[in-house]
Amino acid sequence: MSGNREFAAFCGRKTAIASAALFPPFKTVINRAPHFSLSAIGDAWCHERFDGPFWTSAVVDCPAVSIVFVQSRDGNTVTDDPSSLGAGETDAHLIYEGLSRIAVDGVVVGASTLHAESFFSVWRRELVDARIARGLPVHPAQIVLTREGRVDVDHTRLFHVRDVPVYVLTSRAGRERLARPLHARPWVQAIVADGQDALEQQMHELFTRGQHRISCIGGRLTASSFVDAGLAHDLYLTTSPRDGGSPRTPWYVGNRPPSLERVLAKTWEDIEGVVRFEHFVLQRPA
Ligand SMILES: NC(=O)c1ccc[n+]([C@@H]2O[C@H](COP(=O)([O-])OP(=O)(O)OC[C@H]3O[C@@H](n4cnc5c(N)ncnc54)[C@H](OP(=O)(O)O)[C@@H]3O)[C@@H](O)[C@H]2O)c1
Repeated sequence: MSGNREFAAFCGRKTAIASAALFPPFKTVINRAPHFSLSAIGDAWCHERFDGPFWTSAVVDCPAVSIVFVQSRDGNTVTDDPSSLGAGETDAHLIYEGLSRIAVDGVVVGASTLHAESFFSVWRRELVDARIARGLPVHPAQIVLTREGRVDVDHTRLFHVRDVPVYVLTSRAGRERLARPLHARPWVQAIVADGQDALEQQMHELFTRGQHRISCIGGRLTASSFVDAGLAHDLYLTTSPRDGGSPRTPWYVGNRPPSLERVLAKTWEDIEGVVRFEHFVLQRPA
């Protein structure tokens, strides 16, 4: 898969789709941001579309991890095509492939959410400009979680873009399973750890490699492992105006639901009705 020309064509298609999106006005319903110690991100263009600043937690000594999810009105997240949940283009292009990524060094994804076309970036020109204004490269690093090492490196786009670093967070056994395809791709680096605090060790290692802000795009097993390890800081949750997805698949799947403090709630009118976006700060488990 994927030479430079093929990747350029993919970028062209993604950029054209993102540039054609029209964003309806946002309405701020709740704004408790002044009660938190958060950093505002985005420029005047972003603030105008979002009806104010987009916020993110400060970076201290480990990556600031934000989780971004779209759920159906009845709270489901699992579907092969998250756009089928009905949150619309504004969520896809302004929040998901936009504001939630403009300040991040990397995007992290679980093995079961990967598919052949996967490559996670920001496409709309104004949002790319906001990344560049922060001194960030156009494309964030791609970070894949796979304890077992059962990912199809040969047929997944993000492993084929030489200029964009890829980190595979895996176990010793997973690293062995991936030895052949990774050997051929020096820009893909395995970060190996085993045991209960593996994810924490891997996050510290990523921090030392310059990954200070990370967007976790799920799925729910992955997001929950960040929450359960006390490593998730922000949750950006969009709720669509209709029921859908696989029944009983909320974004969190662990045993200790996190305590969430709402920072913002915003709404906008989309084709299917009113979409709601909420930003929560996660309280670390005691
Ligand atoms: N609504 C949304 O916003 C949204 C977002 C993303 C995904 N989705 C949907 O959600 C579904 C997939 O979600 P899912 O929860 O089943 O799977 P997932 O979180 O995407 O992937 C789970 C896999 O990730 C790896 N993994 C997770 N935590 C790990 C850790 N701490 N260390 C190492 N590896 C780890 C494991 O891979 P190995 O088995 O290889 O070890 C695990 O089996 C899909 O239908 C997708 O389309 C929806």
